[in-house]
Amino acid sequence: MARLIDGKQLSAQVLDTVATEVQQLKAEHSVTPALAVVLVGDDPASHVYVRNKVRSAGNAGIRSIEHRLDADTDQQTLNALIDNLNNDPDVHGILVQLPLPAQLDEDQIIAAIHPDKDVDGFHPLNVGALASGQSGLVPCTPLGSMIMLQQVHDDLSGKHAVVIGRSNIVGKPMAALLLQANCTVSVVHSRTRNIEALCRQADIVVAAVGRAELVKADWIKPGATVIDVGINAVEVEGKRKLKGDVDFAAVEPLAGAITPVPGGVGPMTIACLMKNTLTAARRQLSAGDTDKSNPAVAVGQS
Ligand code: GUN
Repeated sequence: MARLIDGKQLSAQVLDTVATEVQQLKAEHSVTPALAVVLVGDDPASHVYVRNKVRSAGNAGIRSIEHRLDADTDQQTLNALIDNLNNDPDVHGILVQLPLPAQLDEDQIIAAIHPDKDVDGFHPLNVGALASGQSGLVPCTPLGSMIMLQQVHDDLSGKHAVVIGRSNIVGKPMAALLLQANCTVSVVHSRTRNIEALCRQADIVVAAVGRAELVKADWIKPGATVIDVGINAVEVEGKRKLKGDVDFAAVEPLAGAITPVPGGVGPMTIACLMKNTLTAARRQLSAGDTDKSNPAVAVGQS
């Protein structure tokens, strides 16, 4: 039977450390890290995610500021809010919950957030920093997944990791982090030929495609570590249940270690958001700079 990598327990440890360091920052610098969460529209799943993020911030001693905007909000209004938050020295992190309603340009909004406040790590400058091994803010789900992997592997060097999925939020940054940890990395996706055979070679499988129970037992090498990023709502006998991208019941008996869904990567994502907010606050404090106009935007405007 596989070792279960318990995301609830591990995220509580991460949050505990964040909470202690937040208190230190308050005591030493009279600064309370603050996270602005922007939610546009009424997507029910996004409302649940935002509620959990705000609750978790409170538990870590981080101040959260919620901005709820109507589903028909236009680009100009959202940009004006981001601009205000960029220029507010008391706001250290900005998170715009995705997906946004169709009339809004997601890429433009992400680029409008100041990279130092981009606690999601989605801004092109942070993406570039991660790809080139420089310090920036790292996307929360891959960061949480790496912390989980480090529970099982003291050294990831030379391991073959297969990442299933190539999203900007998970697949691509996950591959970059694994590469940085000296893994041999394959990224497989919808156009990959013979995904099963590639996965079967992997010491580490990270599944991030958003398809319930896609990964079956015969995709997994015995003893492999399996990180399941998927959170898929499915109906089972008339009841709504959350399923991962991995067929847990079939894979668990042969994997070396595995994350459950729920209670796996999900709580780690939120804990890492708090970690990133603290990191952002610390960096802004040490930089001591008050000009938060976005350099990427300013270039285009000059
Ligand atoms: N929607 C789904 N996952 C995420 C995430 O990690 N960050 C944001 N901002 N929106 C999301």
